[in-house]
Amino acid sequence: MVKELVAGKTIEAWLKTHPLLEKVISTEEVFWTNPKFGSLARSEGKLPLGELDVKDAEERLTRFAPYIAKVFPRTKQANGLIESPLAMLPNMQQLLEKILDSQILGELYLKCDNELPISGSIKARGGIYEVLKHAEDLAIRENMLSNSDDYSILDSSNFRNFFSQYSIAVGSTGNLGLSIGIMGAKLGFHVTVHMSADAKQWKKDLLRSKGVTVIEYESDYSKAVEEGREQSNENPNSYFIDDENSKDLFLGYAVAANRLKQQLDDRGIVIDENHPLFVYLPCGVGGGPGGVTFGLKLIFKDNVHCFFAEPTHSPAMLVGLITGLHDKVSVGDFGIDNITDADGLAVGRPSGFVGKTLENLISGVCTVKDEQLYGLLAMLANSEGIYLEPSALAGFPGIIKLLKEKSGRTYLKNQNLSKVMGNAIHVVWATGGSMVPKVIMQDYYKKGLRLLGVRSWSIFQSPFDFKGN
Ligand SMILES: Cc1ncc(COP(=O)(O)O)c(C=O)c1O
Repeated sequence: MVKELVAGKTIEAWLKTHPLLEKVISTEEVFWTNPKFGSLARSEGKLPLGELDVKDAEERLTRFAPYIAKVFPRTKQANGLIESPLAMLPNMQQLLEKILDSQILGELYLKCDNELPISGSIKARGGIYEVLKHAEDLAIRENMLSNSDDYSILDSSNFRNFFSQYSIAVGSTGNLGLSIGIMGAKLGFHVTVHMSADAKQWKKDLLRSKGVTVIEYESDYSKAVEEGREQSNENPNSYFIDDENSKDLFLGYAVAANRLKQQLDDRGIVIDENHPLFVYLPCGVGGGPGGVTFGLKLIFKDNVHCFFAEPTHSPAMLVGLITGLHDKVSVGDFGIDNITDADGLAVGRPSGFVGKTLENLISGVCTVKDEQLYGLLAMLANSEGIYLEPSALAGFPGIIKLLKEKSGRTYLKNQNLSKVMGNAIHVVWATGGSMVPKVIMQDYYKKGLRLLGVRSWSIFQSPFDFKGN
């Protein structure tokens, strides 16, 4: 509901001091570059987490790898590592160049978290990590496990019986619930997922088939989280995974950075002052893109530039960052409805923890209309044979906007990047898709084709100004 006053100021007053909000409120696409963006050195000392925390998370995942390899055979080949490939997208790059009507210098890659094993989305990183950490904490506390054990012993009725005394709860738009539900149930926990109205039916059905309790809400994500937290707090044996504030979730996502570095190394790609890395990350509450950004900054420092992507109807992180109010503001306060087909991104109030931690490290935020997501879905499917869920395509427009919009070009100039863009590496983070049932994906694809108008590519005449086919 539109508020008369937001943090003591009228909407008119906000528009005066932050004129871009007018477009944001009208749900127009925007490309915002962060005026508070600065070097990592400037943030050091102020960050609540550091390299040792990420290393600790990496080591924990290594301890669990024998267990993961045993209970999820798809991960056996990777020795129980939950990781996704990095794919080059030469054909998609050509299509984007047509939209841009100019060459995209450098190379375009997709980080295929849509293929992450177990739950098929970026949420597998943080969600599974936090469940594992909780299981380890409980088992070590009861002297059932020590860090030096082979964790494949967790695959036993002894441990499943032990974990069955405990519950895990989470609020979710879908994919976090899938990750926590599948992992938690496998270990033996009672898992309850509080699903917002946006969550897709197939995600709820899948979870129920694994023995997970799914509670459905007619309201949005923030309400599902609030209810989940309250109900969980009533049970001393229940652990609530707090998507809005959890440091463990954040660290689980951050581990991705070192893995990406390894993949770039394997291809002989060096990131430095003359070879910048641009990463485009779909954003819901902010934990996934925030954790990845944090990890990347620790490794690549000022040579990585992270842009978040949100639906025009759910620009929660953008509104939090522009106003500086973070979780003290929701898109509804400005009359934005938070209704989007991009279910994973349908969040009205951002994570305060992520916004405050990264307010000087996020390069910018790009918003995208739902129709563009479907169009991009069909483009990527046709050009590269890769099928993503709508939310997962949100990163692509960032490249176009960075290179085309005045604010993007100013960013490049201010960061002394204009001259080295020929060496740029662009990584779009594909955050989900492989679990989507085929019939549903076909519908998405057909919708995308329809919207593209196949021959006229009409959707991209505005705002992308597509120039031909
Ligand atoms: C497919 C997909 N992409 C991106 C995100 C964004 O992650 P976060 O909510 O942590 O910002 C989600 C969240 O559920 C998602 O499901």
